[in-house]
Amino acid sequence: MIFTTKNTDETRAIGRKIAEKLHTGGTETAYIAMRGEMGVGKTAFVSGFASYFGISGVKSPTYAVMNQYSMDGITIRHFDMYRITDEDDLYSIGYDDYVNARGYNIVEWSENIEYAIPDSAIYVSIERLPECDEHRRITVTGGGMEIQI
Ligand SMILES: Nc1ncnc2c1ncn2[C@@H]1O[C@H](COP(=O)(O)OP(=O)(O)O)[C@@H](O)[C@H]1O
Ligand SMILES: [Mg+2]
Repeated sequence: MIFTTKNTDETRAIGRKIAEKLHTGGTETAYIAMRGEMGVGKTAFVSGFASYFGISGVKSPTYAVMNQYSMDGITIRHFDMYRITDEDDLYSIGYDDYVNARGYNIVEWSENIEYAIPDSAIYVSIERLPECDEHRRITVTGGGMEIQI
């Protein structure tokens, strides 16, 4: 699916909508690989996704690499791979265990860890649109999402 958004709240709303589709479809374990340049709205999308579950206060985990949130039996692990430059870095954060654990793994800068993205991943790519500073195109593919929305 392809969405266009005109401001931050609309991007958050798309994140929320994807969370709703997964959850109401019975999917509580999924890997979401995000792509897109700095400042494009990846964290805004994750914040909207988490808000569906009543989770607020989502912040970029750039320094921590991963922030984990839990609410009512739902777990979200929010990764930022910006500083992950090789496989040793990745495995030193315990990535293997996280990837195989229950919950939603949502990964910013998945471009940096292409080799470690599961086949089952849903991809969310966010791009800027040329006509306006605040316009974005959000493309969601994989994980059966094409037919769910
Ligand atoms: N349509 C939009 N969607 C998301 N963010 C937007 C949009 N228009 C402007 N912004 C701004 O762009 C920035 C996106 O920041 P953030 O979500 O942290 O990006 P990223 O995680 O991709 O680096 C915020 O300052 C936000 O207010
Ligand atoms: Mg971010």
